Amino acid sequence: MMNILVIGSGGREHALAWQCAKDDHVKNVYVAPGNAGTALEPKCQNIVLASSQDNANEHSAVIEFCQNNAIDMVIVGPEAPLVTGIVDACRDAGIKVWGPTAYCAQLEGSKTFAKEFMAQNNIPTAAYQGFTDAAAAKAYIDEQGAPIVIKADGLAAGKGVIVAETVEQAYDAIDDMLADNKFGDAGSRVVIEQFLQGEEASFICMIDGENILPMATSQDHKRAFEGDTGPNTGGMGAYSPAPVVTQEVHNKVMTQVIQPVVDAMKASGHPYTGFLYAGLMIDQAGDPYVIEFNCRFGDPETQPILMRLQSSMVDLVAQGLAGQLPSNAKWDTRPALGIVVASKGYPETSSKGDVIAGLPELDASHANAVKVFHAGTAFSDSSAVDNKQEVVTNGGRVLCVTALADNISDAQQAALAVTGAISFDGAQYRRDIGHHAIARENA
Ligand code: AMP
Ligand code: GLY
Repeated sequence: MMNILVIGSGGREHALAWQCAKDDHVKNVYVAPGNAGTALEPKCQNIVLASSQDNANEHSAVIEFCQNNAIDMVIVGPEAPLVTGIVDACRDAGIKVWGPTAYCAQLEGSKTFAKEFMAQNNIPTAAYQGFTDAAAAKAYIDEQGAPIVIKADGLAAGKGVIVAETVEQAYDAIDDMLADNKFGDAGSRVVIEQFLQGEEASFICMIDGENILPMATSQDHKRAFEGDTGPNTGGMGAYSPAPVVTQEVHNKVMTQVIQPVVDAMKASGHPYTGFLYAGLMIDQAGDPYVIEFNCRFGDPETQPILMRLQSSMVDLVAQGLAGQLPSNAKWDTRPALGIVVASKGYPETSSKGDVIAGLPELDASHANAVKVFHAGTAFSDSSAVDNKQEVVTNGGRVLCVTALADNISDAQQAALAVTGAISFDGAQYRRDIGHHAIARENA
């Protein structure tokens, strides 16, 4: 029997832990630090390791926990510990860990690294230039005109990107990032990019250094409000598969984007291992351009994708760790769609401690076609006192209500029905997740 440690606390980690717990060979799934959803999941339990503010401490706490609890595999969810080298540290200690090394994680951790890597390896992406000086950045904006895209260089949780419709807006973004330092150190350098037109898709793979296993395709809705308007968020909902990724587009992504990453990383002496996420813009001609690389599974894409996964996640990771990834996994042919329920103020702020009512009963049989994955949730203080496990909000993205159905429209309706029954003060969600695919279904 196996013991697994999942690092992270979001909806992605709840979905990963839930998938691992399904496997009959798994005894315990520990989640550090997890959320109320992972605490309630059968076979799963949350653990507290060192504060993630201190990297070296966090890495050594993970290693110590693995050694003391006979952990057979560690799956790292979020980018931050990957960028600071948790995979390198665990490997050095002889622990089996699924994720990219710090070197490879630069694909997400540094936009400049990613852009230079793409240029060197002929991976299609938007033209760009990096700046640390506000005046030079503005001169470049004058030259290029609008729309134009301004990005903070470091990690900013999906929020350090401004798609400026006008030169004025672009100037404001530069002032925010370079002069006012709104995004902290992540913004002390900016990347200015050509605006790409088309439809977005998320293309996520497992890679073992050499072999590539593409996950089912997906599409995320990054904007806060319906009609894809409002500020960028970490993602307000996602569905799988993404019809924009036809077989022809799929082939282009594999040969023009994913294979070059694997080949170049291998040639550099840093073979890519773990999940790799290419955020793509697919243009009218069906040609893919990389908007960004992430060195991890997507959130909320993981939730609908793993809802459809019929292979064992644990087997796939074990095969990946052995350098023997298969080229295909088994997927439910039905699509899945997840709606994120966010807390008051998201994405600018978030709220904590609001009691969540209407959560459906947990179904241990895994047979349900709707699953509520938790993200920013916790138990209220009164839970400990009277043991009634009152679930409260604990962050920006609170839940992801995910449904499987015969088509995307039905999956959206099924997810909306459960979402509508859930309530907490300030809850906000979009009713139009999947609209691109639904328009295609109705065409
Ligand atoms: P990123 O954090 O780089 O994925 O950017 C967040 C979102 O901003 C993306 O999902 C796109 O919707 C949008 N975006 C980023 N870069 C571009 C670009 N060059 N052209 C058009 N939209 C972009
Ligand atoms: N859903 C976007 C991301 O995971 O970055």
